[in-house]
Amino acid sequence: MTRILERYRDFLPITAATPAITIGEGDTPLVRSRKLEKELCCGELYFKLEGCNPTGSFKDRGMVVAVARAMEAGSEAIICASTGNTSASAAAYGAHCGLKVFILVPRGNIALGKLAQALVCGARVIGMDGNFDQCLQMVRTLTQRHPITLVNSLNPHRIEGQKTAAFEIADALGQAPDYLFLPVGNAGNITAYWRGFVQYREAGRTGNLPRMMGFEAEGAAAIVHNKVIEKPETIATAIRIGNPASWQGAVAARDESGGIIDCVSDDEILKAYRMLAAKEGIFGEPASAASLAGLIKSVRNGLSLTNRKVVCVITGNGLKDTDTALKQAPSLIEVPADLAAIEQVVL
Ligand code: F0G
Repeated sequence: MTRILERYRDFLPITAATPAITIGEGDTPLVRSRKLEKELCCGELYFKLEGCNPTGSFKDRGMVVAVARAMEAGSEAIICASTGNTSASAAAYGAHCGLKVFILVPRGNIALGKLAQALVCGARVIGMDGNFDQCLQMVRTLTQRHPITLVNSLNPHRIEGQKTAAFEIADALGQAPDYLFLPVGNAGNITAYWRGFVQYREAGRTGNLPRMMGFEAEGAAAIVHNKVIEKPETIATAIRIGNPASWQGAVAARDESGGIIDCVSDDEILKAYRMLAAKEGIFGEPASAASLAGLIKSVRNGLSLTNRKVVCVITGNGLKDTDTALKQAPSLIEVPADLAAIEQVVL
C-alpha cells in the first residue's frame, strides 16, 4: 500500500523535490465496534486505530510531512516540546533521516514508553521542570534564535499531514461519518481532521461533513472554559495542556461543523479506557479513551445516534503507558509450577 505522501500527494504541500520518506505511517484500520455500538445505540460505530502507526500514535502522519519538508529545506536539526507522542515520532523520523533531534518534555509527566521511544532513537531529551505549555514556549523562542526546525503543530506541515486520517476515514466509509469523536489536547488534530473533511468535500470525494465532537480532560479544559488553565492536571498526560496552540482551529471546527468541545473527567476517561480494552480488545492510551468517554457522555446527555455513522479516533497505543494499564487492570494471578494450582484458577 502506498503511504500517505504518495497516496494523498495532491492534497499535501509536497513538491517534486520533497524526499519521499516513510517508515510505514498511515493506512490505519477502521474497525467496526461489535459491542459498544449496540450498547450506545449507534447506527454504526467505528474506531480509527491510530495507535497502529509506526511509533504508535497519529503524530506520524504530520511528522512525515514536517520532516520531509525540513529535509527539503536543508535543515539539519529538529526540535519539539511534547507530552510524549510527538517526541517519539520526531525522534523516529529524525533518526530515519539522519537529523539531530532535540526534545523538551515536562519532567515526570510523560508516559515511560514514550520517553523510551525517544531515547532509544537517539534523540537528546531534556526533562524540564514545568508543564507542556511552558516547554512549547521555550522551543518557540529557541527556534526563533537558532536554525533548528520546529516540528510541533505550529509547523503548518504537521496539520497538513494529520488531515490524511480524515481522507482515509472518508475513503473507507465512502463518505464522511455523521459524527467524529476525538480527544483534544493542543488542538492540532481536531483542526487537521476538519480541514481534511472540508477539502475532501471541495474535491467531491465526500458529499457530507461530520459534526466534530472534541473532548478535553476536565482538569485541562481551556477551550471549554474559554480561559488558559495555568496548572492543567489529568491522568491522561498526553492531553495535559492548558493553553492549546491550535485553540482557534478547534473553535472553528466546532462552530463550522455544528459540533461541540466538551470535557470528560479522569474517572470517565479511565472507565472508557477499560471498556475499550475489555469489550472490544482495543488497547488505547488513556488520552485516546477521551473520545469514547465523550461519546458515552454525549449519549447519556440525550444525543441520539440511531441510524448515524460514528467514528471514534483512538489516537495512541496503550502500550506506551503500562503504568496506568497495570493500575487499572485486574491483578496478575501468581501460582507455583503445579498443575492443581493452575486448575484451581482455570476451572
Ligand atoms: N491523543 C494523544 C495520544 C496525544 O498524544 C495527543 C497529543 C492528543 C490526543 C491530542 O491531540 O494535541 O492535536 O489536540 N499529544 C501531543 C504530544 C501534545 O506532544 O504528543 P492534539
